[in-house]
Formats: sequence, C-alpha cells, structure tokens
Amino acid sequence: MGGQKRVFSGVQPSGGLTLGNYLGAIKRFVEMQEAGIETIYCIVDLHAITVWQDPARLRHATRELAAGFLAAGIDPARSILFNQSQVTAHAELGWILACVARIGWLNRMTQFKDKAGKNREAASVGLFAYPTLMAADILAYHATHVPVGEDQKQHLELTRDIAIKFNTDYGVDFFPVVEPVIEGVATRVMSLRDGTKKMSKSDPSDMSRINLMDDADTIAKKIRKARTDPEPLPGALDGLKDRAEARNLVNIYAALADTTPEAVIADYGGAAFSTFKPALADLAVARLEPLSAEMARLMADPAEIDRIIAAGAEKAAAIADPILNRTFDIVGMIRAR
Ligand code: TYM
Repeated sequence: MGGQKRVFSGVQPSGGLTLGNYLGAIKRFVEMQEAGIETIYCIVDLHAITVWQDPARLRHATRELAAGFLAAGIDPARSILFNQSQVTAHAELGWILACVARIGWLNRMTQFKDKAGKNREAASVGLFAYPTLMAADILAYHATHVPVGEDQKQHLELTRDIAIKFNTDYGVDFFPVVEPVIEGVATRVMSLRDGTKKMSKSDPSDMSRINLMDDADTIAKKIRKARTDPEPLPGALDGLKDRAEARNLVNIYAALADTTPEAVIADYGGAAFSTFKPALADLAVARLEPLSAEMARLMADPAEIDRIIAAGAEKAAAIADPILNRTFDIVGMIRAR
C-alpha cells in the first residue's frame, strides 16, 4: 500500500458555498496542496441528486463550486479538480461497495436520519446508500487522508468498516484504511442564529449563515445580528466553555485570521460584542470579498471552468480506472484486458 500520502475530499454542489464549507474544508484543502501533498478534490454531483436538484441549478452550482475552489487557491496544475459524474469509476465501485456494506450499518447514519426527517419512506434510495458512494469516492483512489468537517466523521468511520470488510471477505490487503483529518478551529462552524446547530446551506434562515457570494454589507449585517449573550468576551479561553455563540464567533475570527482562539482572546478578552463584532465583520469582508470577486470573474467564462474540470476528470480516471479494474478482478468479474 506504500507510504505515500494521497488526499481526497469532496463537496456537494447543492447550493451556495457557506463560510462553514470554506473554513472547515476548502481553505484546508488549499493548505494541503501548498504542503506539496498529492491532492484530489471532487465536486460530488452524484451525491447532490440524492435530494431533488433542478437540472439548470445543478449545472450552475457545479460551476460555481469549481469557481470557489479555484478562487480559494486550488491550482489545477497541482491538484486534481473534477466533478464526480465524469469519472464512471465512482458509480461502479459504489455498486460493489453497496454490496459490501450492511443495511444495519447504514441505519445508524445520523445524517440520513437528519436529512430524511420524519418521512423516511419517501427518501430516495440514493440518500440511504449515500455513504457507500462516498466510500467509493475515497477508495477508488486508494486515498490515505480525507480532510473534512466534524459532520462527516461517521461517514468516514463507515468507509473504514467497508474497506476492512472488503479486505477480509476477499482475503486481500487491497483497500487502505483511511485517516479522517478533522483538524483546526473551524471543523464545526455553527449557525449565527443558534450556537447548537451547525452552519448549513440547507438552514431555512439565510441569516444563520454567511455565503461566500454575500456582498460586504450583507456579511457585516449578518455578523452584527448574530446571536450572542450579553457578557463581554472572557479573559481566558475556558470562559467560553458554556457560551456556544461567543465561542463560535471567536473560532471564526481565529480561522479567518489564521491564528488561534487563544490569540484572539489575548487581543479581545474583556471587549464587548459592540467592539468585537465590527472587528470580525471587517476581517470577514477583507478575507471573503476578494474570493467572491474572483468567483464572479471565473463564472463569466463557464466554458473555461468546464474545460478545467474535464481535464481534471481525465487525470482522476487515470488513477481510479486501474483500481476499479483490480477490484472487479478480486470480486471475480470477467473483464477484457
Ligand atoms: P458537504 O458538501 O455537506 O460539505 C463539504 C465540506 O464542508 C464541511 N462543512 C463544514 N465544516 C465546518 N463547519 C460547518 N458548518 C460545515 N458545513 C460543511 C463538511 O464537513 C465537508 O467536509 N458527504 C460530503 C461530501 C463527500 C465527501 C466524499 C467528502 C462526498 N464524497 C468523499 C469527503 C470524501 C458532504 O456532504 O459534504
């Protein structure tokens, strides 16, 4: 299995990108690319359709997400950037792994329970099988490290279980047991309206999240109106323990400023939110405005975006296809050589 690191991660093109996606995922993806690690990033359009997507909006969201990756600093010369449906190995390996995973394992997935809601019977079969396709995404590349936010941890544990069961059932040492990389201060960016809920593109309240395409005024307004308690910021970090909303804003500041929550508290301990919130708003605007401007510039040339992800898909397929072929062989399928 070799000692080389290979990073894989994916983001769904199911609406706009949030600050949670950026700080918890894409910003860290760029850092891994900059560290010189082999990095493969996928726009998971097949995952997006596990819930209804309007076709024109899906196409737009796919390009917008690609623009987000590029604007954030993903360099197609150093990372592979592509959309999932262009590399057929994902769906094909997804089927094989759906035959390895057990219904009982999938029944435990909290994300399915959240997304399916009360009417489980009306959820798509794809939504239930979702984590087996996610395992295929990762295992089709023999990826070793998967940077994600906290909410994907259970899916990655399932990926490990699937890899182990495949290896055991077929008596091979083929699929690596992946390491989740859930690191940094922004692995769980919370809603601006409720510090117990994660910031999410599917939250009905737009005030609960910052979207990367929000303009400066909107960003400032959302931060100004973010829910907090009436106390000033504490003098030490453990003073944030039972203050979810305050802790969230401090963490967001730290992630945007590339520093630690300790350093933020060292600067702002004792400050009222009437001081801290404008400072955070300025920082957020300074960091996000160039990003959204670059996304808008890239979106003006959709053909160029399509070309970039098609070239990425070709490179991705060159890695995944031989692994898929070996998988078919292990399983006992006859293939032309
Ligand atoms: P998705 O599209 O929901 O989110 C993309 C990435 O953003 C992270 N994230 C957050 N991080 C911190 N705070 C938040 N509030 C927040 N919201 C989202 C997510 O943890 C994720 O890393 N199942 C995946 C996509 C996927 C995938 C994969 C990931 C498909 N195949 C293979 C890794 C490897 C998902 O729905 O992410």
